[in-house]
Amino acid sequence: MSKRYTITAALPYTNGPIHIGHLAGVYIPADIYARYLRMRGKDVLFICGSDEHGVAISMKAKKEGITPKEVIDKYHNIIKNSFDTFGISFDYYGRTSSDVHRETAQEFFKTMHANDCFETQTTEQLYDAKENQFLADRYVVGTCPKCGHPEAYGDQCESCGSSLNATDLIEPKSALSGETPSLKTTTHWYLPLDRYENFLRSWILESHKSDWKTNVLGQVKSWIDDGLKPRAVTRDLSWGIPVPVAGGENKVLYVWFDAPIGYISATKEWAAQEGKNWTPYWQDKNTELVHFIGKDNIVFHCIIFPSVLKAMGNYILPQNVPANEFLNLEGQKLSTSKNWAVWLHEYLDDFPEKQDVLRYVLTANAPETKDNDFTWSDFQTRNNSELVAIFGNFINRVMVLMRKYYDSVVPAPNAHTNADQATITELAAAPSKIENLIEQYKFRAACQEMMQLARLGNKYLADEEPWKQIKSDPDRVATIMHTALQVAAGLAVLSEPFLPHTALKLRSMLQLDGNLGWENVSALLLIPTNHKLGEATLLFEKVEDEAISTQMIKLKA
Ligand code: 2FM
Ligand code: ZN
Repeated sequence: MSKRYTITAALPYTNGPIHIGHLAGVYIPADIYARYLRMRGKDVLFICGSDEHGVAISMKAKKEGITPKEVIDKYHNIIKNSFDTFGISFDYYGRTSSDVHRETAQEFFKTMHANDCFETQTTEQLYDAKENQFLADRYVVGTCPKCGHPEAYGDQCESCGSSLNATDLIEPKSALSGETPSLKTTTHWYLPLDRYENFLRSWILESHKSDWKTNVLGQVKSWIDDGLKPRAVTRDLSWGIPVPVAGGENKVLYVWFDAPIGYISATKEWAAQEGKNWTPYWQDKNTELVHFIGKDNIVFHCIIFPSVLKAMGNYILPQNVPANEFLNLEGQKLSTSKNWAVWLHEYLDDFPEKQDVLRYVLTANAPETKDNDFTWSDFQTRNNSELVAIFGNFINRVMVLMRKYYDSVVPAPNAHTNADQATITELAAAPSKIENLIEQYKFRAACQEMMQLARLGNKYLADEEPWKQIKSDPDRVATIMHTALQVAAGLAVLSEPFLPHTALKLRSMLQLDGNLGWENVSALLLIPTNHKLGEATLLFEKVEDEAISTQMIKLKA
């Protein structure tokens, strides 16, 4: 394993709040990975921020009758607050409207321009004469030529993930006026992706053929096999980063040119704040760069941004791009416009203490290899039958029995039986099982292994029944409780990447030493004899049927 990691999570557009699909697809897996690596002592930089340019923002401003600046300020704060509350542990959360970002993106453009990395093309583009506006990206909607989706945007079809040019759309319509656009001549700078075909083929399809996810490799291959074409990196818009070269007047950088550079500008801002050097995080070959994204972002992170980094010459390329598929909700595609979503800020209003429950459900059901479904009934079952009945029940029993029998002071163990030994052996093996899965980006299976440890503890107590032996064989009970406590402490450590709020509570209940880390679990150096435990609190509480019906009613309304 490398020592230094730069982990990025897709910068969300600040044109609306975020929902469970974003959390499941990008931010929870990225957070599990970052937390785990920090626990292993790695130098981790976990970066994200607001994507504040592009037509998505200007459209929202127009719709709400406010300025783009008001839109981005409003949603930046809502989104950042949701991330903080869910414990997404970014080291830095930037904004692409910052000065550092504008300077960084312009510097990329100027350097590439000076090195002849662009071509210019004068072409006829879709134009809304009524609105006096070229129709790029989300300003134009039409039928996707690849999958037939009737509401594809001018740069991308969100249904099949294809990246498009506005002129590719069948029956295009202006999203501003609803009119059929006319054509008007304009000149733009293009990134000639065709020049990077050999590099991309050998770097991704050969070097990474066995360590990248098949969904990602599949999309990249189909892109390359379709023939890479020059891609415009400037737009005739007013909201965005001004094009910093002669001829760029009244033009801005394409949002997908500037947004990924946002990872770098956020790194610069973080480094300045911490008094560190940003360059090793992007330029040292010993740094592993990992981009967490949803499948609709694959082309931008695997083809376009790597081509930009390659053109710049001195940047590292991602070691992996573990893109997830999509999460559906109650059998239907999540949709912002149809308000078919569970918005994080609303979830937090309804379940203010249940951040970890949602983290758990979304991890247990993550769309890692195929689209998956979130249902409120599954949420309830996973909470009541897994978190409450297994994890919570085990910890609660340990705490209650310890207080009752030993005034919460850990007893010395006596001779181990086979059952004790088997439990201890399984506990010692848990970290390596979990780490192998996390390092392969299999967070769903890793989370199940963590729950397996809770199951082990729960079953151990149920089988050994200390409550039946406390009078007849107190020595045996001392061994049982000592052993059960080791499992509880192991859980406090190993659950942290998945359930950070719970892990913190559990650490405090067990009064664990702050230095107790991942390696202590396999070494079985967890809770010593005579250690005094803290106060018990309930880790999880039942979700009643009523709370679920309320959510279903809200959704259908
Ligand atoms: O799809 C989106 O929501 C984009 N805002 C993601 C940008 S990721 C990065 F490159 F900035
Ligand atoms: Zn499509």
